[in-house]
Amino acid sequence: MEKGTEIDGYTRICGLIGNPVEHTMSPAIHNTLAREQGMNLAYVPFRVSPEQVEAAVRGAFALNLLGVNVTVPYKSQVMPFLEEIDPLARQIGAVNTLVRGERGFKGYNTDMPGLYRAMCEDGVDLRGESVLILGAGGAARAVAMLAAQKGAGEIVLLNRTEEKARKLAAEVNGAAGRNAARAMALGDYPKLPSQKQFLAIQTTNVGMFPKTEESLIEDDAFYRRVHTGYDLIFNPAQTKFMSLVEKGGGRAFNGLKMLLYQGIIAYELWTGRQVDGRQAEKAYGEMKNAMGI
Ligand code: ATR
Repeated sequence: MEKGTEIDGYTRICGLIGNPVEHTMSPAIHNTLAREQGMNLAYVPFRVSPEQVEAAVRGAFALNLLGVNVTVPYKSQVMPFLEEIDPLARQIGAVNTLVRGERGFKGYNTDMPGLYRAMCEDGVDLRGESVLILGAGGAARAVAMLAAQKGAGEIVLLNRTEEKARKLAAEVNGAAGRNAARAMALGDYPKLPSQKQFLAIQTTNVGMFPKTEESLIEDDAFYRRVHTGYDLIFNPAQTKFMSLVEKGGGRAFNGLKMLLYQGIIAYELWTGRQVDGRQAEKAYGEMKNAMGI
């Protein structure tokens, strides 16, 4: 499937299953990569209604789609309809990328490897790190599993509902086979050991457009304990959380690179091709163009 930029008889299709899908940046990422690499591949969005998820997965396989991304709200729902599930995706409990196998799709999670690749590029090393995760939902779960797998020294789960954080900490410790994670109620953050500096990852939707003036914690004293902050939010590109981290003297990053790399890793899984730095930059530019930033 080389060299075609026009759609013809050899064109392979990849696509996105979700609901809604209209806001997606994935076509900008994948169609740019395909163009840059001269691959005869087109990526399109598919809005799927809740009762059609199984039909969509099986239909995509039947139609010989090369690969499929899965987004909200179907990342867990598609799992029973797959031939195989990658161990990391199984641990996270969510898949966002389906790759063709012999008799069905194999499910992967490229969101977390995407975040990891962004962190590597930013010079952030999770090994031995004190990681503070804000939130205890699906995104927090994935980040906590990644941090545990990559050898974080400790993982503190800070959440409004402490019980949820406690349950998640137990699950992470069970999966990691060590006591890496512990829970803390959001309001208890002043009890964090004051001599420690944290890598903080903001996983909630607090501060997302249009409520851009909000942040889970406003206190400057908290942010002085954060040497690096990641906000998984990418709209706005500069969140209140990021501004507060920077005001406290830390480095801050948004979720745009994670979004880019989850796409790049999916593309690499589908095509068996590596994406180089120049191609990644190009896709990043097109993705930001599509977002109007
Ligand atoms: P996701 O899959 O994006 O992580 P989720 O599973 O619904 O979404 O989780 C949302 C997370 O954001 C939860 O940790 C939630 O806290 P609770 O467990 O207490 O509900 C957190 N969250 C959302 N809005 C919040 C708010 N206004 N204040 C504090 N935490 C909030």
